[in-house]
Amino acid sequence: MRRRIIVGNWKMNKNYWQALPLIESLLGYTEPRDLKGVEVVIAPAYPFLHYAYQSTKDTKVSVAAQDISAHESGAYTGEVSADMIRSTGVQMVIIGHSERRRYHGEDAQALSKKIDLALANRMEVIYCIGETLEERRGAAQFKVAKKQLMDALHQLTRDQMQRVCIAYEPVWAIGTGETATAEQAQEMHGYIRQVIADRFGPKTAACIPLLYGGSLKPENAVALCTQPDVDGGLVGGAALEVARFIAVIEALLH
Ligand code: PGA
Repeated sequence: MRRRIIVGNWKMNKNYWQALPLIESLLGYTEPRDLKGVEVVIAPAYPFLHYAYQSTKDTKVSVAAQDISAHESGAYTGEVSADMIRSTGVQMVIIGHSERRRYHGEDAQALSKKIDLALANRMEVIYCIGETLEERRGAAQFKVAKKQLMDALHQLTRDQMQRVCIAYEPVWAIGTGETATAEQAQEMHGYIRQVIADRFGPKTAACIPLLYGGSLKPENAVALCTQPDVDGGLVGGAALEVARFIAVIEALLH
């Protein structure tokens, strides 16, 4: 069976004092429960990664970074390397989020370097893809998804690919309250799995977790997360309130 994963992407929200109770309450929910194998991940900002890692060690919650540098080390003021993150204990990283692509001009070359560095540092990657509203209106969503997938992943071996999850996040649905319908999500996830199968073979494709993101919330999580090719979610806004995040996790326990 494929892994099922819910990731809370905190983005640039929560200071230290706000992060503490959020982690505590989440653990209060996860620890006494049988999560039926659903993996719960939180992605706080860099300054709290080490704390988050330490306080969730040996629990059902794990920690991801929101990004890494495309450089290995050196004179890159403000950047944080894969090696630095890995040395905190954190083993997972989000790469290619649309906000990184849009506000920081991250292109295919930078993203494939980041993926290589994350994998070289024994990390797992959550690689984000998704089309803009304009691209969907122009019926270009499949072409865009294929290009984003292949630009960044074509160089990987099958073994490396096993350490990658894909998050499909239509840009028009991120933070807008708009969501893809369950049918749109399934259609795209099915397509993504096919693209992976064409490059890495059907066996590899069958075990890669595909997460949906973009205004995923308690109100739509059951419909979206029960689609056959949707293996979990990447949650932004709804991950900032523990009760809402828990309600999304529960959608996967159905
Ligand atoms: P959202 O963000 O749930 O607030 O739309 C999702 C994401 O960007 O990962």
